[in-house]
Amino acid sequence: SKSLALSGKKVLVTAGPTYEPIDPVRFIGNHSSGKMGFDIANSLAKYGAEVYLVAGPTHLVTKEAGIRIIHVTSALEMYDACHRVFGEVDVVVAAAAVADYRPKYVADQKIKKNSEEFVIELEKNPDILASLGAIKKHQFLVGFALETENEEEYAKQKIKKKNLDLIVLNSLNDKGAGFGKPTNKVTFIDKDFNIQPMDLKSKEEVANDIVKKIIKHYE
Ligand code: PMT
Repeated sequence: SKSLALSGKKVLVTAGPTYEPIDPVRFIGNHSSGKMGFDIANSLAKYGAEVYLVAGPTHLVTKEAGIRIIHVTSALEMYDACHRVFGEVDVVVAAAAVADYRPKYVADQKIKKNSEEFVIELEKNPDILASLGAIKKHQFLVGFALETENEEEYAKQKIKKKNLDLIVLNSLNDKGAGFGKPTNKVTFIDKDFNIQPMDLKSKEEVANDIVKKIIKHYE
């Protein structure tokens, strides 16, 4: 419907972990379930936005109309998928937990347990959000920061480094925040470094709070 707050807006959302292959049967991953990103996509769609949901490996599904899911596995695949749609979108919300490093060499065959020690050499993945920040024009960029120490300072650095408009900080020091859980506790920090701590809420409610910030930007 044309009357919804985000009708006519296109939004790119990233969700879930990435899996970085070691060999045909193994990978390096993380604990992201994808729920935070899926809840954001659902909330955006309810407000009339057209959503590209670029999702790493997850069992989650969405029945919300207006969401196109693009399934990816690795950070490099997520990078490509995001850059393919970026030119079309008005807003980006990056909730994915992207692996910062990937194995430098991926074995063609299953690695055998022949030695007592086994070292995996890693190389840096591109920072997807920073790469979008570097080329953004009109786009409103919302990032996440998942921290375990020095939270607000690191989050502020990410705003600058990735050229963000808003960052959603969650800390693994807060009970009920972060990976897997149905709840999250976030602090919003905008590009002028205004800090707004929020209560512990369901991820659906946190998603709604994020979407309200986006709506406010367009008012
Ligand atoms: O999926 P759930 O189980 O519901 O858990 C939700 C969550 C904890 C994964 C989510 O709330 C969250 O914090 N997502 C971001 C996790 C993360 O990797 O944060 P970061 O501080 O390392 O990254 C900062 C920002 O840059 C993020 O927006 C991230 O998506 C982005 N990034 C990071 C690295 C990279 N190579 N490319 C990126 O785009």
